[in-house]
Amino acid sequence: MHKLKVDSEEQLSPTYAGRSFSHDIPKYRLPAEGIPADAAYQLVHDELDLDGNPSLNLASFVTSWMEPQARLLAAETLAKNMIDQDEYPQTEVVHQRVVSMIGRLFHAPAHQQPTGTATIGSSEAIMLAMLAHKRTWQRRREQAGLPTDRPNMVMGADVHTCWEKFARYFEVEARVVPMEEGRYTIAAEQVEPLLDERTIAVAGLLGTTFTGQMDDLGSIDALLTRIASDPGWRIPLHIDAASGGFIVPFARPEQEWDFRLPSVRSINVSNHKFGLVYPGMGTVIFRDASDLPEELVFRINYLGGDMPNYSLNFSRPSSSVILQYFAFLRLGRAGYEQIVNTVLENARALAGKLGAIDGLELLTDGSALPIVALRASDPEASDLTHLSHLLRERGWIVPAYTLPPNAEHITVLRMVIKENFSRDMVDMLAHDIGAAMKTLAHGAPQLHARRRPHC
Ligand SMILES: Cc1ncc(COP(=O)(O)O)c(C=O)c1O
Repeated sequence: MHKLKVDSEEQLSPTYAGRSFSHDIPKYRLPAEGIPADAAYQLVHDELDLDGNPSLNLASFVTSWMEPQARLLAAETLAKNMIDQDEYPQTEVVHQRVVSMIGRLFHAPAHQQPTGTATIGSSEAIMLAMLAHKRTWQRRREQAGLPTDRPNMVMGADVHTCWEKFARYFEVEARVVPMEEGRYTIAAEQVEPLLDERTIAVAGLLGTTFTGQMDDLGSIDALLTRIASDPGWRIPLHIDAASGGFIVPFARPEQEWDFRLPSVRSINVSNHKFGLVYPGMGTVIFRDASDLPEELVFRINYLGGDMPNYSLNFSRPSSSVILQYFAFLRLGRAGYEQIVNTVLENARALAGKLGAIDGLELLTDGSALPIVALRASDPEASDLTHLSHLLRERGWIVPAYTLPPNAEHITVLRMVIKENFSRDMVDMLAHDIGAAMKTLAHGAPQLHARRRPHC
């Protein structure tokens, strides 16, 4: 993005909208006068044409298409504030149903009412879960007469940036397992040496942002279960299922990654990824009500009624929850299974074609999540950052970035395959990548890779 001159007096240069008004409109200052609604619409619409095409954006996991009926529901509910449960009680009923459906999908214990809340995305969901685990740990320590300072959490360097954000914002020491050439996830053997009596939780990933691979959740669960009896540290496992939470239950329902593992006490998922709703929705689910300390739930009455609230923000749109409800009813389990299996097949087909291109090596082949990640077999010969730029010229948005420490010397190219990505697009993208690799083979300038992937 070019640098904005936000302190300047630059004016907008409208195209079609300019037929409806003649005065100047400042770019960075509230305009003195308004313009007709049609002209404002045209102007904003035309400006946003400069954005990339969401359908060709393989960088983002986020849903880029829903059916017209979903758009209609979104438009009808735009004015409803999710927090105002007294005014919009039925929206709250829908919220509870959505939380319950997800809790049951993730095998929350049957005797418990699934406890959780919709959030604005996985980042907020993770922060809420970790705040709960921090408070639970503090309370247990207080009751035992032990100090409550210096809490820590254990995670791999494969986590999304929101985990580091939580650690920094909420003052918890982040104990990070580094990556290494050939290992881009974590397992019990890396986690164990970092645990102690001050560990509030361990993060386990059902799909990393970097490669789409999964942490070895079974071994971490077994470790935490053992440690709960000897030396008696009750350390919860939080599963970050931002990307995998709506894939694994449909593609491989027998895979135990959720509340079927005894030490899993909370799970987050990004509904706006494979939950198939537009951006702005995540969910956090706790194993049972005891995992959410009562003092973190605020009861407010100034909008009328008595409303329990566990969130970082107060007001929020209700449309995302409504859209998730729509998608659940519309698709049902069978619909999700069909879509998930199709995206996985397309991801594998793409991986098959890319794996056959000279100079590329597959890191992930779409067999776990619909994500294909590649590295250059000889980084000296082909710079994947340059490949990413060449693909951008063809309209594809395919990020290249470096892996986290200590694998930062490896640059990867990652593609997220979503529902819109047809088999024809698989063929076209594979063709364009093959052609771009040939261009690179004839010598191309070196560019610098991004430090972080898109979410
Ligand atoms: C594994 C993982 N966790 C958390 C997040 C953050 O999710 P959100 O963008 O919904 O806040 C992402 C985003 O891609 C992710 O991949």
